[in-house]
Amino acid sequence: MNYDWHVVFNLYLVVSLTFYFHFFVMCWIFWYTGSWDTVSVLLHGLQRLEYRWYDSAWLYVTWKDWSHLERAVGKVSELTSRFDQERDVSSYTCWIAHTRWATHGGVTESNTHPHTSNDWKRIIVHNGIIENYSKLKKELIAKWYTFSSETDTEVIANLLQEHATWSFVETVKEVQSRIRWAYAVLILHVDSPNEMVALRLWSPLLFAYNDTNEYFFSSDAQALAWYAKKLIYLEDGDLLHFHTTDAWKDYTIFHNGEVTKRDSETFDHEAMEASKWDFKHFMLKEIYEQPNVLSRVCKWRVSFEDFTLHADAFHGMHQEDYKKIVTVACGTSNYVWRLWTYWIQQLAKIEAQNEIASEYENKPFFVDPRKLHIFVSQSGETADTLSVLKMLQEQWGKSFGVVNVVWSSIARLTDSWFFARAGTEIGVASTKAFTSQSLCMLLLALFLWKRRGMRLSLYQKIMRELEHLPAYIETVLDQSDQIRWIAMQLMQYKDFFFLGRGYQVPIAYESSLKFKEITYLHSEAYPAGELKHWPLALIDENVPTIFILPHDEMYEANISSMQEIKARKWKICVIWDRSVEWSDRQISIPETCDELYPFLTVVAGQLLAYHLADLLENDIDKPRNLAKSVTVK
Ligand code: G6P
Repeated sequence: MNYDWHVVFNLYLVVSLTFYFHFFVMCWIFWYTGSWDTVSVLLHGLQRLEYRWYDSAWLYVTWKDWSHLERAVGKVSELTSRFDQERDVSSYTCWIAHTRWATHGGVTESNTHPHTSNDWKRIIVHNGIIENYSKLKKELIAKWYTFSSETDTEVIANLLQEHATWSFVETVKEVQSRIRWAYAVLILHVDSPNEMVALRLWSPLLFAYNDTNEYFFSSDAQALAWYAKKLIYLEDGDLLHFHTTDAWKDYTIFHNGEVTKRDSETFDHEAMEASKWDFKHFMLKEIYEQPNVLSRVCKWRVSFEDFTLHADAFHGMHQEDYKKIVTVACGTSNYVWRLWTYWIQQLAKIEAQNEIASEYENKPFFVDPRKLHIFVSQSGETADTLSVLKMLQEQWGKSFGVVNVVWSSIARLTDSWFFARAGTEIGVASTKAFTSQSLCMLLLALFLWKRRGMRLSLYQKIMRELEHLPAYIETVLDQSDQIRWIAMQLMQYKDFFFLGRGYQVPIAYESSLKFKEITYLHSEAYPAGELKHWPLALIDENVPTIFILPHDEMYEANISSMQEIKARKWKICVIWDRSVEWSDRQISIPETCDELYPFLTVVAGQLLAYHLADLLENDIDKPRNLAKSVTVK
């Protein structure tokens, strides 16, 4: 194949088919032509789309007369790691990348895209299902066409060969009239490398561009973030012919065979973040975003090759050797701080104090040059938190913020701050903001620990595990159906207890808060060690206990507490990393180090609360009487 084009024609395509609670087939395409660093665009796009379900991935590269195809049945990371980073990627002229959720044909390399016609001239990527593919395939086989995959996509490729005319576009039009929904298709012709045709019917497909002569196709606006400025939503029955010469790139849109014009819209990144895509609720979408969000938190702050924390990312943490750190927050953000007090005391051995903002201002507080106040807030505008910050400033106290909104009041008023990078969070019940802020805090704790002389072996272990954290979270997300099934068993109860020890105590509180916020059911959270002091008086066969029990240092003590409950034949549901014979229900999580378990157990708790609330048909994204940002006292 020879793509010796004057205009660099980088093609990157991502497809995945997702079935989620309903029976729509969701498809995802991203195509790019332009002069930017193709590898960066490719990897970034793949990462942004990884939250989609997929079972295989491939990457196809052409380089002048050389071509290269890498396929992986599994994770995108497995695929991309096969590419030699040293290679001069600027000379690649064509890229196709693809993730596939198997519909027609199993998860095999032969079924992955792209598919080609028998003469190898037409190259196709397709999202959707060709309903009449079986009939068309029989007709083609009768004409001696052969098929190397079980897919419906290969039928399109061979139909193009069968109906070939002098004009690439006219041939595609002919084939378009023969295939029945649903599809978003991109078609290349080896003999006509300066053009490309896209078709859309019932599978989403966006065409996008910007002022610097970069063009894109995508069925998921998420992949376009930060790249495109203008968007055209292709309509059902549209055919877009993209053509290039030495001097220009242009496109023509046909609808039902006639040239048509489609208005472009300005790409609104905020609105894009505010879209639910195919998720039933924003909260669920945000739960699923967490692997991506956590990777983003680490970007430019951590080098996993040599376990370095980039010092310039931690400005505001260099100056002093703080002897005490006070954390101030409200709601879910408050549990981030509770968690942090464990990290900072265990690792950096700095005394930490956690304060609920609305109460902290009711008692005198003391300012000291070696005392730092950290304010955590998703919105950066919470009135109670802001009020403490202002009081502190009147006394010239030192402040640091961890916020998710760059231009927020807390970001502007604190001496320095850390950006949580969670992206816009719409669901009132905070999920990705909790994990992103927690990870920011863990990085700060690691940074301060390093400055004070960390234990190298433990530090390296945490860093090693941190690199795999997004993948571990995906494993928890994969259990969504199982968690929903557990939620069904819990529907009959009205009261719950959440118990944990050590790092899992803040997670028990946070999971219980999520439960209360969206299920409207009563739940209590306690350190498991408190069980015999009073919760046992309330727990009975009508009060299931959700025991957060990773295989950490607290494991043996937790097992004893569990037995106290089990001896009374009460219900136990455990969130943990190994099977346990005493539990009635289990949500298993991957094994990791003690310091990182909270990220996994909290996601399991979020899903449990979400599914129970959904089964109860509650308004999950807007729980009654609660607001996302509380800017009044
Ligand atoms: C409100 C929201 C909570 C949030 C809290 C603190 O109560 O309903 O979800 O945790 O405010 O918000 P912040 O923006 O300061 O994190």
